[in-house]
Amino acid sequence: MGKIKLNIESVTKFITAAEIDAIRGEIESAKELLLSGKGAGNDFLGWVNLPSETGADFMKRVKDEAERLAKMSQTIVVIGIGGSYLGTRAVVEALASREPKGPSASIVYAGHTMDPDYYAQLMKRLDKEDYSVIVISKSGTTTEPAIAFRLIRQHLEKKYGKEIANNRIAVITDAQKGALHTIAGAEGYPQFVIPDNVGGRFSVLTSVGLLPIGGAGYDIDKLVSGAQAMQRECAEKKSLEENPALMYAAIRNLLYRKGYKVEILTSFKYGLRYFSEWWKQLYGESEGKDGKGILPYSLSFTTDLHSLGQYVQDGERMVFETMIEVAQSNQEFSVPNDEANIDGLNYIAERTLTYVNNNALKGTREAHVAGGVPVIGLEIPQIDEEVLGQMIYFFEFACAVSGYTLGVNPFNQPGVEAYKTNMFRLLGKPGF
Ligand code: PA5
Repeated sequence: MGKIKLNIESVTKFITAAEIDAIRGEIESAKELLLSGKGAGNDFLGWVNLPSETGADFMKRVKDEAERLAKMSQTIVVIGIGGSYLGTRAVVEALASREPKGPSASIVYAGHTMDPDYYAQLMKRLDKEDYSVIVISKSGTTTEPAIAFRLIRQHLEKKYGKEIANNRIAVITDAQKGALHTIAGAEGYPQFVIPDNVGGRFSVLTSVGLLPIGGAGYDIDKLVSGAQAMQRECAEKKSLEENPALMYAAIRNLLYRKGYKVEILTSFKYGLRYFSEWWKQLYGESEGKDGKGILPYSLSFTTDLHSLGQYVQDGERMVFETMIEVAQSNQEFSVPNDEANIDGLNYIAERTLTYVNNNALKGTREAHVAGGVPVIGLEIPQIDEEVLGQMIYFFEFACAVSGYTLGVNPFNQPGVEAYKTNMFRLLGKPGF
């Protein structure tokens, strides 16, 4: 049974029960299209049954390699862009407040930018620390990670010598094709495969996410078992009321049709900032096409209440909000008592920061609804591996159903190619 609860109470001011009833048929058809494999992009449905099909032998191989890399490293550099790094970063940053269970290394990222200033900083750190590398690219030909891998491989080989460097590199790529696959074969790097039928943004529960998350010391068995529980719930529960992913898909489509064209994913947990980045890619690449699609955006509260909070409360009424509400924190502080009370804070002395933060959440939700922002609540008990596994699968399933309801192919990303073609022409790449 999933631990995620969708709360649509604050949406009832904006959507009627009759409107929800009217969209039921469309949502059921979209779910049927997904599960029958008859919809657009059906060669990319490997993620649908991925959690339940993840076997013990595969998990052992991933855990062994994660442990091997973590034991020899203070830092693991994860090289990848888009779906090849955002899932890892989402989970690793969300879990940063929890103690790793096994051998663990700090994770740093490369290949998601081509800014030389970033690499200068990174190399300074890597000069001082023992490190290893996980390089991830499904196509094996993406420019940003390919450049980063050249830079970091050169640094690694200079630091350790070629033989030891080769022992500190693991590759995740296609089983048969791509430059990265060829390099890995030639150098004898351990290789993990991204299944053909799993697209980048749906790949966090393959070795793409599991190996680096395991290298950070977190419990990837629990991540997968959380996803398995949500997979069952998404597939089996028929009605919108029982199946939160279906209800979420329904509400966001209804709101979109009423002119709410921007969805902000918000949370009062600082560690979820990269979960939002993962979510933005998932929904933006899946739905933003054919001149359609909700624009996914994210805000981290209360930080952003002091910047874009003004727009959300008072700007053009085209924004709806999905607010992740986390009941408990992994760590705690209380507001200290201070006899002088010059800052006037004694009215919350000895109160936990979670208590204060959760009241900020309630106050914000009330203000946003009053200001004309529909707020969908996503309630979770705390942030751990099990819950994150559920959240990942929940959003993936809802995204596919929502995309089919919108009338797009949620599994392609033709728009991503435009900049690449221009960049290759400008750089003089042969054939462009
Ligand atoms: O979701 C996607 O397909 C993309 O974001 C890719 O993950 C991203 O472009 C990186 O591609 P690759 O893994 O082939 O290097």
